[in-house]
Amino acid sequence: MRVLVTGGAGYIGSVTAHLLASRGHEVWVYDNLSRGHLDAAPAGRLLQGDLRDASRLAAVLREKRIEAVLHFAALALVGESTQRPQWYYSNNVLGSLCLLQAMQQSDVRRIVFSSTTAVYGVARQVPIPVEHPREPINPYGRTKLAVEHALADYARACEFSVVALRYFNAAGASRLFPLGEDHRPETHLIPNALQVALGQREHLTIFGQEHPTPDGTCVRDYVHVDDLARAHLAALEQLQRPGFRAYNLGSGRGASVREVVETCRRVTGQAIPVRIAPARPGDPPLLVADESLARRELDWSPQNSSLEEIVASAWDWHREHPYGYRVAPPKRPGRVE
Ligand code: UFG
Repeated sequence: MRVLVTGGAGYIGSVTAHLLASRGHEVWVYDNLSRGHLDAAPAGRLLQGDLRDASRLAAVLREKRIEAVLHFAALALVGESTQRPQWYYSNNVLGSLCLLQAMQQSDVRRIVFSSTTAVYGVARQVPIPVEHPREPINPYGRTKLAVEHALADYARACEFSVVALRYFNAAGASRLFPLGEDHRPETHLIPNALQVALGQREHLTIFGQEHPTPDGTCVRDYVHVDDLARAHLAALEQLQRPGFRAYNLGSGRGASVREVVETCRRVTGQAIPVRIAPARPGDPPLLVADESLARRELDWSPQNSSLEEIVASAWDWHREHPYGYRVAPPKRPGRVE
């Protein structure tokens, strides 16, 4: 199939783009490189551009005779979204509406959308099923929910085939391709802990130890990036019939921040000192997936999502790429880019 991967130079998008290409699909990546990395996209397949440039998008869809879109491109940091909501609405909502407009104009009606557990807000029931009420508690989650609504409306009115994949916590580095997690700024737990193990940070900050969870730290469901990529392949197969379908992608198991840190210590053999700080605004205490619908309907199951394998794969990648996709340390360490 000829597939456009928006955000295909980013963390999950790049692994998926490589996987699709390795399975014989014709892949084109569309990415503005604001957060993505040139070297992460499959060689020779990057079209640099912004989602909000609807006419360029329409031209790309036509010229490359695209049959389906995997839509990863988005800003995806909860904390940042609470500080700069206008930036999130513009990139995530306006950007997606431009994409939908371009798709409709070009008669491309199949799309897999990167949604998130953040659409649920505070879990009323754990594990969280797909039909759980969607009441996001931060702007990031609200932008993703707004796009889900738009997609469902396009499915009804314009015969779009839509699969929304609600990722829980994407983690680990690919075992299939030399690709891993390199966010700038880095805010995620596992890369931050591994930076301490590498000697690049002095300590890890734990945000809150009085959450209503067994050890007081937040519980998340970590799912390996290769498992997420495989789920996209399965979702593409589902795009034969019109309609909107949503699936949770997680391991179905929760791990607390302290458990993750303990696993990082065990895997790396390093001490990883921690300091406790107040809880991060917008952080729900407990998020664990009920991923049974994805298992049933996508014939998908997480293969690499034990915490041990997630951390081991990330550690291997970070040791081989201590500065991520950079070849040398940043000139001014600690500077937020
Ligand atoms: N955490 C720390 N210290 C750190 C970094 C994180 O204690 O240095 C904690 C966070 O408070 C949270 C947990 O570790 O409880 C996981 O945090 P991450 O930043 O790794 O991931 P989030 O759960 O905040 O974010 C992920 C995705 C988002 C998605 C969100 C849904 O990255 O895209 O899950 O809640 F929106």
